[in-house]
Formats: sequence, structure tokens, C-alpha cells
Amino acid sequence: MKEKKQLAVVILAAGESTRMGGVRSKALLQLLGKPLLSYVLNAAVSLKPQKVVVVVGKDKEKVTSITREYNAHVVVQEKRLGTGHAFLTARDALKGFQGTVLVLMGDTPLLKGSLLRRLVRTSALCAVASAHLDSPGHYGRIIRDADDSFVEIKEARHLSPKEQNIKEVNTGVYAFQAPEVWPFLEKLKLSSTSEYYLTDVPGIMASQGLKVEVIKFSSMIPFSGVNTPADFHFCLTTLQREINEQLMNRGVIIHHPESTWISPDARVEKGVEIFPYTFILGKSKISAGAIIGPHVYVENSSIGAFTQILAFTHLEGVRIGRECLIGPYARLRPGTRVDSGARVGNFVEMKNTTFGQGSKANHLTYLGDATVGKGVNVGAGVITCNYDGVKKHPTFIGDGAFIGSDCQLVAPVKIGQGAYIGAGSTITKDVPPGALGISRAPQKNIEGYARKKRKKGS
Ligand code: UD1
Ligand code: CA
Repeated sequence: MKEKKQLAVVILAAGESTRMGGVRSKALLQLLGKPLLSYVLNAAVSLKPQKVVVVVGKDKEKVTSITREYNAHVVVQEKRLGTGHAFLTARDALKGFQGTVLVLMGDTPLLKGSLLRRLVRTSALCAVASAHLDSPGHYGRIIRDADDSFVEIKEARHLSPKEQNIKEVNTGVYAFQAPEVWPFLEKLKLSSTSEYYLTDVPGIMASQGLKVEVIKFSSMIPFSGVNTPADFHFCLTTLQREINEQLMNRGVIIHHPESTWISPDARVEKGVEIFPYTFILGKSKISAGAIIGPHVYVENSSIGAFTQILAFTHLEGVRIGRECLIGPYARLRPGTRVDSGARVGNFVEMKNTTFGQGSKANHLTYLGDATVGKGVNVGAGVITCNYDGVKKHPTFIGDGAFIGSDCQLVAPVKIGQGAYIGAGSTITKDVPPGALGISRAPQKNIEGYARKKRKKGS
């Protein structure tokens, strides 16, 4: 049996991102809650290569942290001397590697691994992916001779007026054979812009009679690069449209896809209804029949069947059961679990809290590090004082308890099953099951006070 050829992928992500404002690396830009580079890494790992090498430079620590979950090898290009130099920086990481090296640009978030298989299979010393573009703009062009054979790749800025009409562009995706490719990179000459262009390599190979294959793709869209803010908007909205269309085809009702932003990692079941201006990011899961929005933010959270999340609610790292009613204006923070049939109303914040089945907290409440049982009623303005300035402490509220309005529960504290807490109390001691806990000062009425006060003033 023929031995399977080895595959490595090199992703170039060291650039200065000058055309994007140059403040931070474009690899970090968030598209639907995920950094740009992670889309390219997903495409790379889907090919199951033996090794993935990412070349980093600007913002190297932050960019490196994106690569961790992909088990990629990171190399640093200290000086940004162009794409040819960037690829050469990966040579040591691929020492002894024999096989195909796929080179990807780190700024192409629409890339899909399945498209790249055609390049991986090449036996040529170099394969270049090309595509037709009616407005080729800043992309490098494929220059061919009278016989239509490949001659070289020319960068847009170096084209002659006649060459400007060429509409076959360099997608920026290449397959090279290693170790044969390395000497070509070492011998690259500086361009007039003081960069070592990777794009010069295929032309040099072809001029020496070596085999360069140009693989034409029917669309440039999957290879679109983010070079300018307008490119970023194009990639982001293309991705958004792809995801929303897939979901709608599966029976998800999206009122206004243009203002609905859903991560490729989110799972949204059929029959979910999403109102405008809603974000569903990270590894969120929305179960059938849930209704979300308008103006709702959901990140890394699961929402049970037939639950309704009303306007201006912010959910992060939470689990919500079925048939709950959350919001408007609720904020549920990481570690919170809301069980089925519960009701969380306006200006209620929860952090690391379990809120039991059918319980209610309808207005102006903060529950932090709390375990709330079933059928509990939390009145307006209730606050768990969970932090003493040094440590966080827990609050326990038993099933069926009734917490009156405007109470402070000073943790650690336990409210027993079915207990009542009088409105306006500051509770510092445990309250036994079925008891009334009340801590406010008895009311005094001073008869005739207003009349006396007026007299004094006159
Ligand atoms: C490059 C190609 C162009 C092609 C286009 C496709 C070159 C010279 N030009 O142009 O022919 O049509 O991609 O998208 O290759 N980078 C480094 N180190 C550097 C410079 C760049 O790692 O020193 C990285 C960047 O972070 C980026 C990628 O390489 O992810 C491409 O660089 P970019 O400046 O965007 O090249 P383009 O002008 O798009
Ligand atoms: Ca680019």
C-alpha cells in the first residue's frame, strides 16, 4: 500500500494590520464572538495535518493564546519582512518534515477546509489557488504567457497598466513540497517595498522549468482577506448570512437576519424564534420553541425549550431551564442556573446562583453565590451581601420561602424552608424553617408632628 503523504499547514499571522488602523493585530478581531485567526485554524485542523505552525508577530502573546486550543506550534517573526520571510520563519519548526506544506494567510475567515483538499492532493512542487474577480482590487494577479501557461504572480502595486485588466487573482493559498521549497525562500530578493514576497516563489520555480500548478476556484469569496475595515465588514456579514440562512433552512425563525448575530459554534433548534438585534455567541444552545429578543445578548449559555428571553437581557455562562420567563433587563452572569418555570424580571442580576423551579425574582434584585430552592418568592430590591471585602460567602434559601421587599441577606446565611423575611430587614443570622425573620426597628407615629413643626418655623 502507498504510504499517505504527510501534511503540514503554515498560517501567516504576524502582519502589522496597518490598513486596519495598526493598533492591534487583525488576527484578534472578533467575528461573531470568535477571533479571526480561529476561523483559519478551524479550516487548517479540519484537514487533519501532522503539524500546524502559526507565524505570529504583532500582539504575539494574545495571538498565541488563540492557537492553544488547536495544539498549533507557534513561531515568532520578530521583524515583519513580508510573507516570504514569514513562511521561512516556520522552517525550523518543520525541520525534517517531508511532504506537502499548505500555506494559508491568517486574515481569511471565510476559508473552509473542504475547499483546500484539491491543493493538498497536488504532486507539483508548488500549487497556487487562483480565482476570478471582476474587481480584483489589491489582490496579486496570475500572469500567464501567450500559451496560457503560468509565468508569475505580480502584486497589484507592481502591475503595468495593461496587466491591471487581469482578473485572475492569487487567493493567497499555496501548497509546496518540503524540504524542496526552503532553498527558494532563502534566495528570495527584497522587493521595491523592502519585503520578501512569498508570491515571487512560484514565478522563480516556473522560470526554472519546475512544475507549478495553478488550481482555479470558481469563487473568490471563501478566500477573501481582511485588509481594510470594508473587507472586515464584507467577511463578517457574509459569515452572518451563511449561518442565518442555514438556520432558517432548518426551521429557525429569524425576524431580521441582518441584525441577528449567531456564532458558528452555537446550536439553535428548530422552532426557535429570534427577534431583531440579538446576539447568540459562543457555544450557546437554544432549545426548540424558545423565543429570544429583541435586543438580547446570549454568550456560552443554554436556554431550555419554550423559555422566553425578553428585551435587553444579558446572559453569559448560564443555564436556563424550560418554560422560564427572563427579562426584560435581566443580567445573569457565569455559574448561574435557573430551573424550569422560574421568572426573573427587570433589573435582576444573578451571579453563580442556582434559582429553583418556579421561583420568582421579578424586580431590582442581586443574588450572588446563592442557592435558592423551589417556589421561592424574592421581593423587589432584595440583595445578597455576598462579599465582605475579602471573601465571597454563600446564601441558602429553602423551598417555598418568601423574602419581603428591600431586604439584605448578609452571607453566610441560611433561610429555612417556608420561612418569611419581613420587608426592609437586614438578615445576619440564619432563619429556621417556617419562622419569620424580621430586623427592622418598630414603627413610631408621632401625633401632631407636622403642626408643631410648622408652628416652630413661623
Ligand atoms: C497577499 C499576497 C497577494 C494575495 C493576497 C491574498 C503577498 C506579497 N501578497 O497580499 O498576492 O492576493 O495575500 O489574500 O504575499 N504577514 C506576516 N508577516 C509579514 C507580512 C504579512 O505574517 O511580514 C501575514 C499577515 O498577517 C497576513 C498575511 O501574511 O495574515 C497576508 O499579508 P497581507 O499584508 O494581508 O498581504 P496582502 O496584501 O493581502
Ligand atoms: Ca491580506
